[in-house]
This record gives sequence, C-alpha cells and structure tokens, in this order.
Amino acid sequence: MTTNRTFTMIKPDAVENGHIGAILEKITSAGFKIVAMKYTQLSTRDAQEFYAVHSERPFYGELVEFMSRGPIVAAILEKDNAVEDFRALIGATNPAEAAEGTIRKLFASNIAENAVHGSDSDENASIEGSFHFAGREIF
Ligand code: PPS
Repeated sequence: MTTNRTFTMIKPDAVENGHIGAILEKITSAGFKIVAMKYTQLSTRDAQEFYAVHSERPFYGELVEFMSRGPIVAAILEKDNAVEDFRALIGATNPAEAAEGTIRKLFASNIAENAVHGSDSDENASIEGSFHFAGREIF
C-alpha cells in the first residue's frame, strides 16, 4: 500500500553550513507539508541503529560518525506519492550525479556528506518516522 508520508533528515553538514532555512523552503515549495519536526542530535548508538541495514557496507563507520557529529533536523513530510517525489526532489545520493535544481545538487558537498536523507520506501518511511517521533509529536 502506498502511503502519503516520508521521513527526512537535514544532515549535520547542511546544518553546519547554514542551509536549514533554504532546504525547508525547497521542501515546502515543492508541496510537502511538515507534519512533525525536531532539531536534535543522534548519539553514536542512535546512528548505528538507524543505519543498521548498512552495517556491512564499507562506509558504515564513517556514516555513523558523520551523522552523529552535530545537530540535524528530523521531519515527517506529507504529500501524494511522498517517498518517490521526495527522492526526486533531493536527487542522487552522490551530488556529482544529482540533477540540476535538486537539494543535493544545490547544498551537498560529496557522497558522504550529502545534506539530506529521504526514505527509500513507504515501509522504511514509517519505521524511520517512528524511530524519531512519538505519536503525539506527529500532526
Ligand atoms: S540509498 O539512498 O539508500 O539508495 O543510497 P545508498 O547508496 O544505499 O546509501 C545508503 C546511505 O549511505 C550513505 N552513503 C555513504 N556514506 C558515506 N560514504 C559513502 N561512500 C556513502 N555512500 C552512501 C548515503 O548517503 C545513504 O544515507 P542516507 O541517510 O540514506 O541518505
């Protein structure tokens, strides 16, 4: 079943570089409604758990260290076809391959520090949203 929600994080690099406002502007201008949002920081353990599915990949340690090094913005977004449309809005994982105008093309430095996360399926959107938010924090 397709749901109309996805989960995103504005990653530590984009926060450090002062891009929170510009990225939220791109997201809301593209028709996404913010139904939950918080400014927070992942602990090492949080990041290990969130990215556990990638634990066998060679960059796992680097990814965990990066994602826990500073604050992030976590949010649940609502729109028809949210997961697919948000992945299109953020662009390819590697910003060098991302289409012009996408969030990663505009704000990401490289494949390891790529500014934003977007869920890759409806199932993961639900799991990832629940990882960060209690039911009473979602509107
Ligand atoms: S995706 O979006 O899941 O299809 O992309 P994938 O290539 O599978 O990457 C999964 C997450 O790992 C991050 N990543 C990397 N981090 C550090 N170094 C390298 N080389 C690297 N390659 C990929 C990528 O940004 C994905 O993180 P999220 O938070 O899902 O965007």
